[in-house]
Amino acid sequence: MALTLTPLADNLGIEATGIDLSAPITNEDMNALRDAVHENLVLVVRDQDLTPAQYLDAMSLFGDLMDQHLTELLMPEHPKIAVLDSRRAKRVLDGEIVPIGAKDWHTDHTNHARPPKMTALYAVQLPSTGGDTGFANMQAAYAGLPQDEQDRLAPMITVNVIEQDTEYVNDSTRSALTAEPQRHPFIRTHPETGKKAIYVHPGKLAHMDGMSPDESQTFINDLLSRTITPEITYRHKWRPGDLVLWDNRATLHLAHRDYDVKEGRVMHRVILQGEVPF
Ligand SMILES: [Fe+2]
Repeated sequence: MALTLTPLADNLGIEATGIDLSAPITNEDMNALRDAVHENLVLVVRDQDLTPAQYLDAMSLFGDLMDQHLTELLMPEHPKIAVLDSRRAKRVLDGEIVPIGAKDWHTDHTNHARPPKMTALYAVQLPSTGGDTGFANMQAAYAGLPQDEQDRLAPMITVNVIEQDTEYVNDSTRSALTAEPQRHPFIRTHPETGKKAIYVHPGKLAHMDGMSPDESQTFINDLLSRTITPEITYRHKWRPGDLVLWDNRATLHLAHRDYDVKEGRVMHRVILQGEVPF
């Protein structure tokens, strides 16, 4: 079995086959996988069969495991893993149930001072149809804007706080997180490549510095609807055993909700500690 890497779309996404993350891998393969994430921002490792402990070991090859604030979803024996099961979703929007991550294009956990540099999902159970995850290359989105707009956006600051309506976080964690809104640069520089990206989680955005909450949401909706175009996105169709790892500093993602949540779409999520955004 040899590691093979195959690009999945023009602007982001690469697929790895011929690798088994349940067993030790060579330094050469590890370096190839790390480079693949840096260059392609989304890494899809196919055909994995991992216990929770093996999954955590594999992810720690890419960085330090980070605690998640989804206190009600943590796996009791392995609390660094959150179990995202669509059958537990209760949030309703316009008469439709919205599973976690399915409301807007977003990056993860922006209400933290050091948000996760990467997130991984491991597909444990999939619906019979639908439930894809979209990814957008927000470095390409920013690079595609006219220079004067880039200059206007570059100094902007987001103020971020945990959603008040999510049922996945216990009260003490929510209070502690709500007490400390986090300010982050709206245009973020990647610490490894120096590339700049639009960096935002609309659901956690209390407001843009200097704008009202309503103005902020209108501003973000307009910008994202103009910049997230098919050319800069990759839509992942899940297969059982897929492990997908992405760079939160340079991409946004969206869980499509075009499936029957009662069928059960189960993902095991792990996040990796990031740095203070700059
Ligand atoms: Fe997410």
